[in-house]
Amino acid sequence: MQGKQLAGEKAVEYIQNGMVVGLGTGSTVNVVLNELAKKVQEGLNIKGVATSKFTEERANERKIPLVDVAEIESIDLMIDGADEVSEQFDLIKGAKGALLREKMIATSSKRFIVVINENKCVKKLGAFPLPVEIVPYAWKVTVNQLEQLECHPSIRMSESDIPYLTDNGNYIVDCHFDTIIEPSVLATRINMIPGVVENGLFTNLVDTVIIGKEKGEVQVNQK
Ligand code: A5P
Repeated sequence: MQGKQLAGEKAVEYIQNGMVVGLGTGSTVNVVLNELAKKVQEGLNIKGVATSKFTEERANERKIPLVDVAEIESIDLMIDGADEVSEQFDLIKGAKGALLREKMIATSSKRFIVVINENKCVKKLGAFPLPVEIVPYAWKVTVNQLEQLECHPSIRMSESDIPYLTDNGNYIVDCHFDTIIEPSVLATRINMIPGVVENGLFTNLVDTVIIGKEKGEVQVNQK
């Protein structure tokens, strides 16, 4: 946890007065929310954009002001975690199922900072199963089409043994690729399947990766 804590603390230094800030989802973003809440209490004036109900609840508990998402036109800075980060700054995201909203906000943000611990750094993406959000309608058809990409897709299940539902009312399929050689090519192929809503590959979006290390250092990699 130390790595996530350090990365989250560092990221908050990039938030400036007056910014609209995209708030990702997950345990590292939770650290960001804790630190941001302290700054808001001290007088920092920002507006947050929550990328999940989970983050929205936590931001509300911490009295971080949120914008009405229907009113957003542009975002100054997005801060989010990731499941894998490659040497090319490409990401796999979606372990918490929030990939669609996260990608919508990341792609419309002027700057995207990723906060991770060192275990998330990889040479090539793919060891972590790639989450793909799909519509529930005829979902087995979509899973069969994903299967043709040779990724052993499995529908994500909830604890009550029914398919896990995203905040958007969709399903998640976890795809096992092992190694992803060309992430942007694969992302396009996946999104061409009609039942696919979005995939968890984030390519050419990240400006800065903040890596918190268990030994107490923080490394900031800029693209
Ligand atoms: C949410 O869907 C994910 O993309 C998270 O951002 C990712 O799983 C990182 O989560 P942690 O910070 O909890 O590791």
